[in-house]
Amino acid sequence: MADNEHDPDSTESGWQRRDIAKAALGVGGLSTVLSLTVPATGMTEVLSREFTGAVYADGIYLVDEDRNRVRPGALEMGARMTVFPETHPGVADAPTLLVRNEESAYAEPTNLAFTVAGYAAYSKVCTHAGCMVAEVEEDGTLVCPCHFAKYDPTAGAEVTDGPAPRALSQLPITLSSDGFLMATGNFEGAIGPGGE
Ligand code: FES
Repeated sequence: MADNEHDPDSTESGWQRRDIAKAALGVGGLSTVLSLTVPATGMTEVLSREFTGAVYADGIYLVDEDRNRVRPGALEMGARMTVFPETHPGVADAPTLLVRNEESAYAEPTNLAFTVAGYAAYSKVCTHAGCMVAEVEEDGTLVCPCHFAKYDPTAGAEVTDGPAPRALSQLPITLSSDGFLMATGNFEGAIGPGGE
């Protein structure tokens, strides 16, 4: 579900639980844990930290929290949603922010070749301490709830405020021949804290 329709951070969705789990990892010093089980509403969610390969590659479809492939009409202008690689949706580095803006809104250092039809995609893992970047301000600024790092999705997800040391990594995306959003490679840079 698109975030402009319903704020996922106020729901009991599985991905909210993942966000909470990741936040716990970030602030709780549990980064060496290989997996994390989060009991919530009678269910258990696991963020796998064992997978160390590329989470995206050329031809991997983006899917929503229900594992449905994402069409270009999924988001209204200015909205964003969380998507995942169809092949590895449950790994810790998989959560990805998909944003839609007017194509003319994007500026450097956004890699425009990585955008399609006003859509850009960035890692959702905060580069400060690994929480999920799960909130958004009225102007579209992405906000990490842990220590309030802010990122501009129309400027390559550069840091505009807060303690994060670098931008969220951008994912190259395109439209597949059958009309879905699809990666054309892996994230451009490191995911989460610790990378260059
Ligand atoms: S983890 Fe500290 S601002 Fe995101």
